[in-house]
Amino acid sequence: MITLKNKPLSFESSAVHAGEDKKDQYGSHTTPIYQTSTFAFKDVDQGAKAFAHEEGGASHIYSRLGNPTVEHLERAICELETFGLSNAEDYSGMAFGSGMAAITTGIISIAKGQHIIAQDALYGCTSQFLKEETPKLGMATSFIDTSDTFLVEMELKKHPNTALIYLESIANPTLTISDIEAIAELAHQHGALLMVDNTFATPYHIQPLALGADIVAHSTTKYMGGHGTIIGGVLVAKKALYEESETFLFRKNLGGIAGPMDAWLTMNGLKTLALRMQKHTSNAMQVARFLEDHPMVDEIWYPGLESHPQYGLANHIMKNGFGGVITFELKGGFEAGKSLMNHVKLCTLAVSLGTVDTLIQHPASMTHSIVDEEIKKQAGITDGLVRLAVGIESAEDIIADLEQALEA
Ligand SMILES: Cc1ncc(COP(=O)(O)O)c(C=O)c1O
Repeated sequence: MITLKNKPLSFESSAVHAGEDKKDQYGSHTTPIYQTSTFAFKDVDQGAKAFAHEEGGASHIYSRLGNPTVEHLERAICELETFGLSNAEDYSGMAFGSGMAAITTGIISIAKGQHIIAQDALYGCTSQFLKEETPKLGMATSFIDTSDTFLVEMELKKHPNTALIYLESIANPTLTISDIEAIAELAHQHGALLMVDNTFATPYHIQPLALGADIVAHSTTKYMGGHGTIIGGVLVAKKALYEESETFLFRKNLGGIAGPMDAWLTMNGLKTLALRMQKHTSNAMQVARFLEDHPMVDEIWYPGLESHPQYGLANHIMKNGFGGVITFELKGGFEAGKSLMNHVKLCTLAVSLGTVDTLIQHPASMTHSIVDEEIKKQAGITDGLVRLAVGIESAEDIIADLEQALEA
């Protein structure tokens, strides 16, 4: 890591330079794409030593175990998630072929056969995995509103075999914010760990590890990749935690590592992460104000609005603004929302978020259609919710598009 005049780089500069390793044999300025399945050994001894993890072995064996391009991405994201931490070198990143591969590998390796307490509002596939798949793997998950720290404490007391608390730093799609600091403390008092999906916030806005969380997950498909060109995921945690949980072994044997080309594209995205987040955030704030004042909007959720239920907490734990996603409900519910989504011209009707262009979608029939009805009700994921992932076009154009679609 570069330091100038004994001062570490800013987050913006770190995003551009994170993970750099200027040791390429040809002096390549950008990270080469090691698009290879396997690596040649000099001789049998070197190969055997590599497999036995002995000194003198080859540094790379096979790309399902590790690949130099993928490792560059892992170093880069780890640097950003641990930005400013005095013990940053204790952590490492682990890249995956999707956010879900990162999340499931992390959960399975850590929670092995024990109880999980999860937030009720979560990305649809995460919710479905916890509700329907963890019991088949000998685990059980209870779902609660983690924005109420008292409920978390009660649930920990109810389930003394809790190994893991799982939440999203800004929940999908309700944008609920939980008190990561207080929950991490409670988890540790009860011998559990806290895992936080930081996809919506990115380390530009929230650093869960600095707030006491043990493991961070990302769908790098979103803001980190930034351009809608890849599917990817990452975990960042202390190396000691991976060792204890055998997370690396699980990734190797479940086979979920990222491919080199996707890792490379994600790294290109990371270089502009801070720049893009500034624009996503300032645009989202303007769009949120517009929607808040619009007579056809019934309710709106955005952590930067005073009306957000955790506005005070968001101000306490978020830096540099409040992210790029807004959720709202129109007067006229689902039918009005459907008409809006069918009439936008600049915004694209598509799932996903964190791309440079604005995406709009309907959680109840799309991303969250697979979520258990009871959990959806408890989390407030209603049929009328519209999710808007504000892009980096001009705010005026996004607002004009919404305005004409609302009129239509
Ligand atoms: C908050 C969150 N976590 C995880 C995921 C899953 O990521 P992926 O689609 O990369 O597997 C998503 C996908 O939308 C998400 O929104």
